[in-house]
Amino acid sequence: MKFFIDTANLAQIQEAQELGVLDGVTTNPSLMAKEGISGDANVKAHYKAICAIVDGDVSAEVISTDYEGMIKEGEELAALDEKIVVKIPMIKDGVKALKYFSDKGIKTNCTLIFSAGQALMAAKAGATYVSPFIGRLDDISTDGLDLIESIRIIFDNYDFGTEILAASVRHPMHIIQCAEIGADVMTGPLSAMEALLKHPLTDIGLAKFLADHAKANS
Ligand code: E4P
Repeated sequence: MKFFIDTANLAQIQEAQELGVLDGVTTNPSLMAKEGISGDANVKAHYKAICAIVDGDVSAEVISTDYEGMIKEGEELAALDEKIVVKIPMIKDGVKALKYFSDKGIKTNCTLIFSAGQALMAAKAGATYVSPFIGRLDDISTDGLDLIESIRIIFDNYDFGTEILAASVRHPMHIIQCAEIGADVMTGPLSAMEALLKHPLTDIGLAKFLADHAKANS
């Protein structure tokens, strides 16, 4: 399972990269705005800065919602760095744009997926990744993991090459359950990744080992 970090914060991306388990980055317009990044030149410079840190795919989302606009923006984003994956919303013109980029060999991430039918459409259009938002489904009392399961079955039935990128991950159990189901990728905050490595018995055990070592060597 690939681990992507879901942020535009350079310090957190650097920290995750140094942990040695990072496979990529996802961003979205809200995450860019959170870092105070605005204006075309600044946005592009920020994507280049992210690409310079991470070894792996970096999703950069288009703002346009019409086909021509998405193609223009996506081509400009893809030209920034070979790591850039053009992130396209699941709307009708977005499906057409996915097909265009797929035919050109440019990687895409279809975002805002909330149903298996949307994932199927994106896969048929040749998306590299589909991003089902599990946390946002949980927020409205709908099990986001059921959606991951359903998409896994459909993609396996027909050998779609599109990867399931479990998005809107909020906590470590989301990651573990996505791994059990067989999501190809998860994207989440650094805190959810770091929570995976923690266990109180590890801390207690290590403290005892070090105390015994200190006693024996005093
Ligand atoms: C990923 O590509 C999405 O932008 C992201 O995971 C959304 O997460 P949120 O629901 O926590 O905003």
